[in-house]
Amino acid sequence: MGTAPANHGEQPKAGARHVAIIMDGNGRWAKKRGLPRAIGHQRGVEAVRRLVRALEPMQLECLTLYAFSSENWKRSIDEVDSLMNLMRRFIKSDLAEFVANDVKLKIIGDWQALAPDIVEMLEDALSQTANGKQTLAVALNYGSQHEIARAAAKAGEKGEISAETIAAELDTADLPPLDLLIRTSGEIRLSNFLLWQAAYSEMLFVDTLWPDFKPEHLAQALDDFAKRERRYGGRLAEPTNG
Ligand code: IPE
Ligand code: IPE
Ligand code: MG
Repeated sequence: MGTAPANHGEQPKAGARHVAIIMDGNGRWAKKRGLPRAIGHQRGVEAVRRLVRALEPMQLECLTLYAFSSENWKRSIDEVDSLMNLMRRFIKSDLAEFVANDVKLKIIGDWQALAPDIVEMLEDALSQTANGKQTLAVALNYGSQHEIARAAAKAGEKGEISAETIAAELDTADLPPLDLLIRTSGEIRLSNFLLWQAAYSEMLFVDTLWPDFKPEHLAQALDDFAKRERRYGGRLAEPTNG
């Protein structure tokens, strides 16, 4: 009595602050049309552009996109090259628009290990967008297990290893908690993406192939998210002991 009751299970149903997307299905999109995989990736970039352009009214603080995993190096040299070239072209063509639209770029993963010219372009993009309002976090050469191992090692160097000290060293430490994780293309797995951050995220797996993903799909997902009841281990029906 006199103190605020424990609020377990009574988290307010609010809009999402942070959504992440595993953008999957570019290869299958191309295959269905008898086109090279590289064209699927090209159309995938267009889907990203459409989404970023539509971001402002959705009021998200952060959108995180899985663009290249640390396991994607296992693909053919040709495919990796075409993905890297798309990245170069995308930064060149869209950076000014990011700045104009107040988008703040962030990169997670071991991006410093990418080709030196890409690292340089990314550093420039990060500094040019540093004052943006909505964060677009792009996972490049990203693997969640490695991210966690790195964070734990850093936490250990500084002192105590705990859930809190590890979380504080993750690449995402400065981002809001992950509310919703979406994967396109019908695969129901995480493929080494945000394993730690997704502990209490809502998840949405859709059959749409990434190049067909439209801003309306995200808007719908956000509407649905706002209706979900998040429990964080507590139960609404349980009386609180206040
Ligand atoms: C996602 O599409 C893009 C990347 C992984 C870079 P995929 O290339 O994985 O497409 P599918 O899964 O083969 O259809
Ligand atoms: C995950 O998709 C990585 C990205 C979307 C960048 P993959 O297509 O690489 O994942 P798997 O191989 O199907 O698990
Ligand atoms: Mg795939």
